Amino acid sequence: WLASEAGPAIEVLVIKNSWCDAVIACQGAQVLHYQPKQKLPILWLSDTNQFQRGKAIRGGIPLCFPWFGKHPHQPDLPSHGFARQMEWQLQQASENIQGHHLSFVLKDNAATRLLWDYGFEATMDIHLGNQLEINFQVHNTDCQPFEFGFAWHSYFAIQDINQTQVHGLEQLAFLDQLSPDGGYSHVETQPIRFSSETDRIYQQAGGHYEISSGQESPIYIDAPECSSVVVWNPWAEKAHRLGDIPGDSWKHMLCVECGKLDKANVLLEPGQTVSYQLVLSR
Ligand code: BG6
Repeated sequence: WLASEAGPAIEVLVIKNSWCDAVIACQGAQVLHYQPKQKLPILWLSDTNQFQRGKAIRGGIPLCFPWFGKHPHQPDLPSHGFARQMEWQLQQASENIQGHHLSFVLKDNAATRLLWDYGFEATMDIHLGNQLEINFQVHNTDCQPFEFGFAWHSYFAIQDINQTQVHGLEQLAFLDQLSPDGGYSHVETQPIRFSSETDRIYQQAGGHYEISSGQESPIYIDAPECSSVVVWNPWAEKAHRLGDIPGDSWKHMLCVECGKLDKANVLLEPGQTVSYQLVLSR
């Protein structure tokens, strides 16, 4: 349990095995910490989280679902959907020679129906071994089709944003969310480097990226079915405005968010299931 001064505690699972140490919150089925043995942690988590039930946790791997960013038609609905604020049910937990396996489920209920009136079953299978493997499945249990967007909003732990590069997105068109020209498509030939606030959406990405930062061993990201990826660092002023990224800790985090969003949203017919995988390693 992670105690909260402001209300009921958040339930977490603490896993230690021969391959890694990890912490997973049942809220959002959110991995908060993952550290392969003898290596540095892969994920960044804010020190100032209050772990209040129903409030998004800053850091780890929150899941944005069933929409990414602002809702396209109702801006008053929660940003990045509701999955990260909801309690997921731990359906299965097992252990074998390769690590631990946890399976969480979120089904439509009165609270989800108020925000998104569809029948669905979402499953997050998390394998904690010498790499972190997450499988996300969405099943349409409704009698009508629905459209959804999603992203693993992963916060990676980096030595220094000023010495960080992201490889794997060279030559690809992106939408600069900070640019006043809105929908204009940009292209960069070099690995991404950072010198100011960055908020980019790539819609035709290959699903294989590498983050290198200073002397640290690189972080490898593989999400082969995810054609969208968002690269985000708030820099000093926005970090301060957000309120839960203290001091200069924004220099030690970088979000590379794999998923399917906006124009790449998924249309799911009744009875259909789709699944996506994310693998992280060092
Ligand atoms: C990123 C967006 O994915 O998430 C940013 O591209 C946004 O624009 C950021 O600021 C954080 O969102 P939130 O809702 O977790 O504060």
